[in-house]
Amino acid sequence: SRRTDTVIHRRVGTNTTAARTESTRRDENVLTEETNGRKCLHTLLVERQEQAERSVLISCQSGTSEKKLFKFLSKHGDVEKYFFYESYGLNAVVEFASRDGVASLLETATIPAVNHESLVPFKSRLLSLRNLSSVDANPPSGLQFQPQSTVPINELIQRLSQEESIDQQIISLTEQYQITDENSRLRFLVCSLLKDVAAAYFPECTIKPFGSSVNGFGKLGCDLDMFLDLDSISGWNVKMPKSGLFTEYQMKRASSERAVTQSVLSVIGECLDHFGPGCVGVQKILNARCPLLRFVHQPSGFQCDLTANNRVAMKSTELLYLYGELDPRVRRLVFTVRCWARAHGITSSIPGAWISNFSLTVMVLFFLQKRNPPIIPTLDQLRDLAGPADKSVIEGNDCTFVSDFTKIQLRRNTETLEHLLYEFFEFYATFAFSRMSVDIRKGKEQNKPEVAPLHIQNPFETALNVSKNVNATQLERFVALCQESSWLLQQSETNTPKRGGAGKVHTPWGLSTLLLPLQVAGIKSRKRRKREPASERIKSLLDSLKNPSPKKSS
Ligand code: GTP
Ligand code: MG
Repeated sequence: SRRTDTVIHRRVGTNTTAARTESTRRDENVLTEETNGRKCLHTLLVERQEQAERSVLISCQSGTSEKKLFKFLSKHGDVEKYFFYESYGLNAVVEFASRDGVASLLETATIPAVNHESLVPFKSRLLSLRNLSSVDANPPSGLQFQPQSTVPINELIQRLSQEESIDQQIISLTEQYQITDENSRLRFLVCSLLKDVAAAYFPECTIKPFGSSVNGFGKLGCDLDMFLDLDSISGWNVKMPKSGLFTEYQMKRASSERAVTQSVLSVIGECLDHFGPGCVGVQKILNARCPLLRFVHQPSGFQCDLTANNRVAMKSTELLYLYGELDPRVRRLVFTVRCWARAHGITSSIPGAWISNFSLTVMVLFFLQKRNPPIIPTLDQLRDLAGPADKSVIEGNDCTFVSDFTKIQLRRNTETLEHLLYEFFEFYATFAFSRMSVDIRKGKEQNKPEVAPLHIQNPFETALNVSKNVNATQLERFVALCQESSWLLQQSETNTPKRGGAGKVHTPWGLSTLLLPLQVAGIKSRKRRKREPASERIKSLLDSLKNPSPKKSS
């Protein structure tokens, strides 16, 4: 089974990080094949949450060997899986076969001795490994680290240049960027650790990840979006007795649901700030449309956003996940477009008038619905396939769509990734943004209901525009870059693989060329540039690769 593939005795002895990462990916592939790629998000979440509850996070500053650590931990219970990663030092995620292992380990854990400071007496599953014997004083050697962030863009460009086709480049980019099995486990573990803090007030709560951490479109290093789920306490499922006596809880009342959310988040924010091990820089952003807490979880390195009862966002996460599972081209194209957009500053880690990753994803989905024959169905079609159990109305919004993959009949479309990427750029290079709105519910352009430069209908809250923040300048840049990129993909200089000698710098080609900095000044005068020989363009792109401008990763 998959689990025995990843237990520790099989993993020790793998030689390189690359090999190990590769083996992880193969495990995932096996999983996908076994279930025919049709595992519903709910099943995945339940499985991951349960794993996280049996796991601990250990900072391993002391130089203990892997073997000794494993032996030490095994005394407390069977270890199902463990892996190492770096974030402010060496860390290990350890998953026991049962919660008893965790309990046993915590029972023997000691309280740190401090001289001039005082401790906040809050215990959690975040531990430090200490070593009293001097034998292992040196840092452990030969440890394999699981990457928790993506390779720098210049390295990616180099790696992609070695591939033999643009389709292969797109597949390779996706494999290098997507969240790994280990990174996913770490994300759920952080949710579980934070849940323990919130459970001090709300013992029945859960903290669930949503957004790109779980929708299949997340890259290593993306933020961790979570919501505090208090539904089990809110009384939705409680049956009223038909007759006789019963008791009810006395509860404090507030003026609105929003006010409740704000006060709950405010208190949990204080708690994380003062007592939460590893939580730093807690900001309360309570007046936003969707109130949230923003902080960094230092031991994992995740930038965290915690909201409360954000059920519509969970539905859009489910929808994106479903689309990603329907055809492998969906995720690959989304990863490629997101990476391309980031490389050119179309998207940014700083909030502002930029197009968001979420908007870009919806734009890719819309484009795929518009192919002939369509690669994915419209949201209305998915709603029509829904069974009674799929019915979902949240705050008056119909969020119903089918969850059973087997009911979805896909049309036969065999377009290659290279062709689709080119067509994506063409599609948006000529899209009537001034009049039309992007609508994945209908899968057809609609007349724009408002004057915003870019209008992308929110799939579930249909009166809202997902890209309301985008200004005309940012939209123009996006369109210009689509034009430039589709033009580049047509040039034989771009789409012919370049052979590089062993150990030499590989000449960028294909997708790599599209990721190189494009001069914005040049984009504005595309017509003039069109007459310039393509070889000149490639030469200047190569020069810019040699002197890259520093890029911020997000
Ligand atoms: P990253 O950029 O990788 O973090 O992508 P993301 O999909 O996680 O986006 P983000 O962190 O901005 O938002 C998290 C989730 O909130 C998204 O996946 C959506 O489900 C939802 N979301 C974000 N922005 C919007 C929006 O403008 N409208 C709606 N309805 N949902 C949004
Ligand atoms: Mg996110």
